[in-house]
Amino acid sequence: MKIGIIGAGNIGGNLTRRLTAVGHDVSVANSRGPQTLTALAEETGATPVTVEEAARGAQVVVVTIPLKAVPNLPSGFLAEAAENVAVIDTGNYYPQQRDGKITEIEEGLTESRWTERQIDHPVIKAFNGTYAHDILDKPQPKGTPGRVALPVSGDDEAAKKVVRDLIDEIGFDTVDTGGQDESWRQQPGTPVYGLAADAETVRKALDSASQERTPDWRA
Ligand SMILES: NC(=O)c1ccc[n+]([C@@H]2O[C@H](COP(=O)([O-])OP(=O)(O)OC[C@H]3O[C@@H](n4cnc5c(N)ncnc54)[C@H](OP(=O)(O)O)[C@@H]3O)[C@@H](O)[C@H]2O)c1
Repeated sequence: MKIGIIGAGNIGGNLTRRLTAVGHDVSVANSRGPQTLTALAEETGATPVTVEEAARGAQVVVVTIPLKAVPNLPSGFLAEAAENVAVIDTGNYYPQQRDGKITEIEEGLTESRWTERQIDHPVIKAFNGTYAHDILDKPQPKGTPGRVALPVSGDDEAAKKVVRDLIDEIGFDTVDTGGQDESWRQQPGTPVYGLAADAETVRKALDSASQERTPDWRA
């Protein structure tokens, strides 16, 4: 598949490594420009590009930048993506350490719903609770007992299937968290956040989550 990755940090870098390793055609962008991505490109075979170029023709686009930077993405950057593009959002709201106060989220809007509104496109929330190094260290073949499962949420069932199949391909099971209004179940501070466990354990963690945002995760 043609995959565009926007953000080349901890998560974007390791998704670039893993998705190229299984044979996808990956373009990767950051905020400073493609000339700053030559080392990652040489290591992985990915193509360093601008944000708009990353989305052009892509069947999957991954948005993996700090939440506070999402409103800075160029407007209409998904305009030339493939029809029915699946947009993966790996983002988390870190009000105290990084993002500052985002009022709509403080008032109860899910983090991915907020991102959807910023980029004017539905997203599939995935990888947000996965440590970046686990993307390289924890993949296992399908059917392996105890294979790590990632929660995935989103309203677009077809896009969600594309993303779940892709995650399976790179070495992980998935658990459907539900639509984006349920995605608080996998946000920071919940039992599943940072949990690297099998599907049954992930399912239980999602079921036991509380919608209340704890003080650590408030501005
Ligand atoms: N780190 C983890 O283990 C982890 C795990 C799960 C989820 N997440 C979440 O995933 C997101 C990314 O995390 P990260 O740790 O990978 O971040 P990071 O290491 O800080 O990297 C951020 C990347 O985003 C790029 N970026 C920032 N603003 C941009 C813009 N306007 N246009 C294009 N690219 C832009 C940066 O490019 P420049 O360097 O050129 O500025 C950089 O490549 C965050 O929301 C984070 O909470 C992180």
